[in-house]
Amino acid sequence: MASSNSDSPAGAGSSTRDQVPSSGSWSPDSWKTKNAAQQPTYSGDPGRLHSVVEQLSSLPPLVTSWEIESLKEQLADAALGHNFLLQGGDCAESFADCQPTFIANKLKILLQMSLVLVHASRKRVIRVGRMAGQYAKPRSADVETKGEVSLPSYRGDLVNQPGFDADSREPDPELLLRGYERAALTLNFTRALVDHGFADLHHPEYWDVSFVDHSPRATEYQQIVQSIGESVRFMETLAGDRMHEINRVDFFTSHEGLHLLYEQACTRQVPHREGWYNLSTHMPWIGMRTANLDGAHVEYFRGIRNPIGVKIGAATSPDDLLRLIDTLDPDAEPGRLTLIHRFGKDGLRAHLPPLLEAVKKEGRTLLWCCDPMHGNTITTQDGVKTRHFESILSELEQAFEVHEQCGSRLGGVHFELTGEDVTECIGGARGLGESDLGRAYHTQVDPRLNYEQALEMAMLIARRTGE
Ligand code: PEP
Ligand code: CO
Repeated sequence: MASSNSDSPAGAGSSTRDQVPSSGSWSPDSWKTKNAAQQPTYSGDPGRLHSVVEQLSSLPPLVTSWEIESLKEQLADAALGHNFLLQGGDCAESFADCQPTFIANKLKILLQMSLVLVHASRKRVIRVGRMAGQYAKPRSADVETKGEVSLPSYRGDLVNQPGFDADSREPDPELLLRGYERAALTLNFTRALVDHGFADLHHPEYWDVSFVDHSPRATEYQQIVQSIGESVRFMETLAGDRMHEINRVDFFTSHEGLHLLYEQACTRQVPHREGWYNLSTHMPWIGMRTANLDGAHVEYFRGIRNPIGVKIGAATSPDDLLRLIDTLDPDAEPGRLTLIHRFGKDGLRAHLPPLLEAVKKEGRTLLWCCDPMHGNTITTQDGVKTRHFESILSELEQAFEVHEQCGSRLGGVHFELTGEDVTECIGGARGLGESDLGRAYHTQVDPRLNYEQALEMAMLIARRTGE
């Protein structure tokens, strides 16, 4: 198996920290003065793209500034160790999967994982889905070649389609609207579920998916559910009343803020608040390939008021990181910045400590989150992208340990997962092997933990989250 972690470095080529980071006046489109990586090239009538962006700018928002500020407060508490962040969902959501079962199953697995984490850690868990807008993907190559044919790479359903033919791969501005609508449909259904009993701790059986009973971890999970049910009944008996607040949960959304015209169109001012909010999602993040200090993405992100994530990896130097922090969080606002590190199981011990030291020296308290997926991608001899459950677990365990050794704290985890019974990652209690990958390999881009693997992962890391 060959490694295929081709990342272009964050802040690559940048020099020292004394250089002035992006500063000065900002507007939702000031990113256009910078180099914008990973943007599609739309051919055809530029008027169509313009008109789509205008339409998007006038549509109602998907989220509110109240929710965004509430998430920011909760993330600030996570940075202090009081809460724990669970962020997860598809690598690339697809329009075709905007269906009730897929959405409900994804929500269920995230709720189940959070229940397991709360149970073990005795901390609140902040649930953030990579969903309702995770439609744009960065690619390591602009072009994909098969035999004699070269076509533009698939960049997510927001841009073009995965089929390997010229029509499918042509970027289409209308897809921006279709993506926004599907994000709205997904969020609408999710809100209806979580607000009206689906997440009710009196009825965690609602969260079970049909194959839960076959999971090697089913008994352990059912015991947790039972013990929580008993605690709830105990508290209600003591209080002599039903605990109404536990029939709903907070649920937030996030996506990679990659397609800057789309993000710009979703950036609004709201009454009675200062500044600009990206109202398409609660927590957008900057991907590894676009976290260039001098690039358009950092310029865009520095001006919005949302809590934001930044992916950092082996190529991020302490100096790069401090300059990114200065630029994106100049006022050291609690909850503003989440650093999502993804080094791979063989890179974490070497690369994480210098970054932790640098941030500590600055006296900054930021939220650190581990993405154990993107540094552990491998390609099988048959050319299939996969990840070993054991590599993912190993990076996570090392992350908890290294943070502790360095006097820091791992405050969150970031997974690519699905609530379905797919076979995309190998390993786990059921021992999926390479030969299983063909059976149910559906991801559009990166391999996801399936339902059982995700629940198992939560159980294996749960006790560490309380430390
Ligand atoms: C992703 O999160 O799907 C992704 C592309 O990650 P990264 O930017 O860390 O490579
Ligand atoms: Co991915």
